[in-house]
Order: sequence, then structure tokens, then C-alpha cells
Amino acid sequence: MHKKQAFIISFEGIEGTGKSTQSRLLSSFLAKQGFKTAFFREPGSSVFGEQIRNILLHGKSKLSALSETLLFIAAREQLRIEKIQPNIAKKDIVIIDRYIDATVAYQGYGSGVDIELINQLNKVVIGKCIPNLTILFDIDPKIGLVRSGRGDRFEKRKISFHQRVRMGYLKIAKENPDRIKIIKVDTDIKTIQNQLRTILNNEFNFKKRKHKKSADKK
Ligand code: TYD
Repeated sequence: MHKKQAFIISFEGIEGTGKSTQSRLLSSFLAKQGFKTAFFREPGSSVFGEQIRNILLHGKSKLSALSETLLFIAAREQLRIEKIQPNIAKKDIVIIDRYIDATVAYQGYGSGVDIELINQLNKVVIGKCIPNLTILFDIDPKIGLVRSGRGDRFEKRKISFHQRVRMGYLKIAKENPDRIKIIKVDTDIKTIQNQLRTILNNEFNFKKRKHKKSADKK
């Protein structure tokens, strides 16, 4: 028998794109539409993940780029085991604020860790929990960094780092045109949210899924 699996959406982008605001708005819109949604952020959303988040974002010790990578990957593994996996069988939609592409963009393109290694690690830790859709919010780092403030370990890095991360994200999107859709963040929150809903509707088709849900219940 075919097992139901939630539609997985991940959100990506450099600092200051408004990604978290948009993903949370979408999550409540989908809930209002009657879809069962789960929302997670990376690193975090598991006890271990939140501890790792604290070390990665606010810890004082200097970390090598590979150590950083391995910590993000470890947090991802726990998130998949403790939260994503159990929820893909129960929910209609699982939203993840940052996921596999962030490590390729930040630690790979930004900090020079071997991209093939990151791809392999990602593959091992996410298993079948592959995003059906990834939204990449794109902004010039000069604007993004002003919007986000320069608080944590990553935000404090040089503009050239953020430029490499941005270029990395755009490259990943080019290589995965079916999965990754780009939204340019050059307008207001509402317009961007509408663009996001249009993209999602093209991929997920709210109406058809709703009908299917009510038919399944009968
Ligand atoms: P967060 O405050 O969640 O940033 P944002 O609100 O912009 O999403 O902090 C997450 C930080 O961790 C962000 O700077 C990106 C970085 N990061 C990586 O470098 N690699 C990763 O694999 C992930 C998931 C995040």
C-alpha cells in the first residue's frame, strides 16, 4: 500500500531576507486552510539541536569550518530522527526554515568545505526526507546584513563571505531547477507572501489536495 508522506518545503537564503517571517506566515495560512502543518527551524527544534544552535551562533570558541559543518549535520540528523520523520507520516505539510542547502551554501561555498563531502553527509542524514520544494529568498548581502543586524557568529562575518554564500545558493538553485524556486526580496511582505503562495499552489495545489483529503475521510 502507498504510504502517505507529507509535502516537505524548505526555506533558504542569506541573512536578512525575511525568510523566517515568510515561512511563519505561510505556516499559519496553511493551518487556516485546514492543512496539518509542522514547522521546524535549523539548527534547532530538538533539545540537542537547540543546544548546538547556541554553540554555533553564540559560542565563544573558534571552530574550524569542518567542525561547524559536522555540528550542523549532527543537529540535522537529530531533527530528522526526532521531528521530521515522525511528522511526515502524520502531517500534510512539513516546513523547515533552513535545511540541506544551507550547509552547502554557508560551509561549502562560504567557507570552502568540500561540497561533495557535504552532499554525501546530507544524503546520509536526511534519508527519504527530501524537500519537495525549496524556496530561495534572494537579496543583495549589502541590504540583507543591514536588515538583519550583525549579532551572531555568521552575521558578523565579512561581506565577501555573504557574497560567496549568496552565489553558492544561486548555483545550487541553477543545478536543481525543479526543486528550488527563487523569490527576489525587493518588495513588501504581502507581495512576497502572495508570490510564495502562488509557487506553492503550482506545486501542491491547495484545492485538489483539500478535495482529496475530504474524499479520503469518507
Ligand atoms: P538564524 O538566526 O536562524 O538565521 P536566519 O534567521 O537568517 O535563518 O541562524 C542560523 C544561522 O546558521 C544562519 O546564519 C545560517 C547558519 N547556518 C549555516 O551556516 N549552515 C547551516 O547548515 C545552517 C542550517 C545554518
